[in-house]
Amino acid sequence: MAVKKRILTGDRPTGKLHLGHYVGSLINRVKLQDEYDTFVIIADMQALTTNFKQPEKLGQDIREVAMDYMAVGIDPEKATIFIQSYIPEIAELTMYYSMFTTVNTLRHNPTVKTEAKERGYQEMMYGFLGYPVSQAADISIFKAHLVPVGQDQVPHIELTRKIVRQFNELYKPVLIEPDALISEVPRLIGLDGGSKMSKSLNNAIYLSDKEEVIGKQIRTAVTDPARIHPTDPGHPEICTIYAYHNVFNKEFVPEVTVLCREGKIGCVACKSKLTKVLNAFLVPIREKRKELEAKPALLDEILIEGTKKAHKVAKLTMEEVRDVMGLNYFKKQGN
Ligand code: TRP
Ligand code: SF4
Repeated sequence: MAVKKRILTGDRPTGKLHLGHYVGSLINRVKLQDEYDTFVIIADMQALTTNFKQPEKLGQDIREVAMDYMAVGIDPEKATIFIQSYIPEIAELTMYYSMFTTVNTLRHNPTVKTEAKERGYQEMMYGFLGYPVSQAADISIFKAHLVPVGQDQVPHIELTRKIVRQFNELYKPVLIEPDALISEVPRLIGLDGGSKMSKSLNNAIYLSDKEEVIGKQIRTAVTDPARIHPTDPGHPEICTIYAYHNVFNKEFVPEVTVLCREGKIGCVACKSKLTKVLNAFLVPIREKRKELEAKPALLDEILIEGTKKAHKVAKLTMEEVRDVMGLNYFKKQGN
């Protein structure tokens, strides 16, 4: 059997995952896990770069993310789910990489810049500025070939490639230059019609939201403001609900496009159709999640096992890294 190529992907644990995560990355991971040796990092150290004032939240947030992963079908038998900070070799490798990564490179990283602006940082913490270096270590310590990510992560993959090239040239070529597998799906917009669904914008529908919650959120979501009466001609292309039909209720799209434009369907009816479809889609996810919530010990065991497995791989790479850098001071040479 041919050896499977390896994928490394993951998230910062900042709480429950939402439909934007599902559309943008989770569904893709579920598909890829059969074909690739999949590693999924729960990047708690990276979360700390912005959440360092509430480290005590991480334990729960890690579990929420892990439950959402499994609820949507990421299978721990196929994918290794692990916790970043429990693999100290990642921090070690980050340190070595930081020796030959310039501050200027980091300061020009567009994703870091955008994030710093969004968060209103006047000055950047050393750890925050440097998180892409740590991400390069996340990826390369596992010798991942592919990193499935959204467009915003591309600068980090570019940096990873650059660091790996430099490392291989400086010492010996033992690391793998990964490719980004860029998600083609456009971002799911938020309930407020904003450009993206996001926890911090408070416009998200969570995978674990209850039926009543979703019904209410959809009922109060913004539609085409030009439609006061159900008979007013609408502009579906600017409507949030329409965007969701497009993703979760594709069959209905040709029909609703016409009905809306001709003022033959009211927003209330259109919304209730979406609510039904979304709830039907979320029923099995909610059920699976409930099962997991009822078995916290099992969940912890899955995380501990995944982390152990990942740790083994990371240790092997670090042994090589130390070898080629000449840092294995007490190891007998010549074999
Ligand atoms: N930066 C990613 C995010 O914000 C999380 C992440 C950390 C990651 N390490 C990674 C993603 C390695 C892919 C590969 O969601
Ligand atoms: Fe949006 Fe549907 Fe209302 Fe048209 S009918 S504006 S698509 S909610």
